Amino acid sequence: MTQAVATNDRATTFDVAAVRADFPILARNVHKKPLVYLDNAASSQKPRQVIEAVDQYYRRHNANVHRGLHTLSDEATAAYEAAREKVRGFINAAEIAEVIFTKGTTEAINLVAASYGRAHLSAGDEVLITYMEHHSNIVPWQMICEQTGAVLRVCPINERGELLLDAFEKLLSDKTRVVAFNHISNALGTVNPVKKMVKMAHAVGAVTVVDGAQAVPHQRIDVRDLDCDFYAFSGHKMFAPTGIGILYGKRYLLEQMPPYQGGGDMIKTVSFEKTVYNELPSKFEAGTPIIAGAVGLGAAVDYLERVGLDAVSAYEHSLLEYGDQRLKSVPGLRMIGDAVDKTSVFSFVMEGAHPHDIGTILSHTGVAVRTGHHCTEPLMKFFKVPGTVRASLAFYNTREEIDQLVDGLAKVREMLL
Ligand code: ALA
Repeated sequence: MTQAVATNDRATTFDVAAVRADFPILARNVHKKPLVYLDNAASSQKPRQVIEAVDQYYRRHNANVHRGLHTLSDEATAAYEAAREKVRGFINAAEIAEVIFTKGTTEAINLVAASYGRAHLSAGDEVLITYMEHHSNIVPWQMICEQTGAVLRVCPINERGELLLDAFEKLLSDKTRVVAFNHISNALGTVNPVKKMVKMAHAVGAVTVVDGAQAVPHQRIDVRDLDCDFYAFSGHKMFAPTGIGILYGKRYLLEQMPPYQGGGDMIKTVSFEKTVYNELPSKFEAGTPIIAGAVGLGAAVDYLERVGLDAVSAYEHSLLEYGDQRLKSVPGLRMIGDAVDKTSVFSFVMEGAHPHDIGTILSHTGVAVRTGHHCTEPLMKFFKVPGTVRASLAFYNTREEIDQLVDGLAKVREMLL
């Protein structure tokens, strides 16, 4: 199953059968049907290379990091820090001090909101977000605005699910301190023009916080090229374990920020009178970290580098075009989110069928999708729907699986309409 794809600078082939063979779970059946896993925006599956790295870590190297002088502790520390260096290279951060391990995107955004927000926001300041944010990029900002008296502003979108950049520009002013937005919308698949938005935010002196959770599994990220101040993402959406994530931040900003949590490893010295905090990145990693998760994330980075993100993007783009054309021919189906620049997500409703009923029937045909509001309630309100059915792609999906989704939707029509 090799497919020709065109990447930015060359034509190449993408061997989807070979990558599928790396993901043991894709061989299983559900409801006596081969699994068709189309819920990758919620969480991706794991290749054996990641599973084996975590397994090896626990079998051979497990110990606490940065604390012991014994061999296992040295090995665990080396593996943990090697993972950080892999992530640094993966996103092209300037130095490892700018790569903070968190438990996921949500914690990374909360860290910035609580630490940067508390130190820099006061009454009358503004935080600008967008209509298409995940709750994890809305609620932390609401919380810090309540605590500091800052005002939350929201950039509107159009019916295609694209940001209105004119409105974005108008909402920016010398009161704007923070601009937080996603790179790719989890509910719509819209790809936002991050570089342009960062430039616009910087023009008024605001710092930018990018939720990259849905971008890292699909396209090459270069934080220095984007020039964003913070970039947050999760391991589990990029083929690594759950419970591990990354906050990238520019060093000069991280240096100014107070710690998010206090505890072991984030200190240099402690006395009852005064504590001296540790250097970056340890200052933001209180307590025993998620060592095995970091090792798994490092293995996922190696895996993605080997498959090649340019080939992944090109292959997924061809799948998106195929699926878009097939799904739009399903009677009564309305696509929610039809941005010109879009990736990896089909979010839709069907006349006369509730998304949850569609999801349940699809599950019985072996097809896994997410249904509901996708943690984006304001966005669902904008489109005047209670929720959608969301099929989300990864590079191990195939055209045949999209055909199975479309066949499943025919069954939904038979049963419900
Ligand atoms: N943020 C995840 C999703 O979109 C959970 O499904």
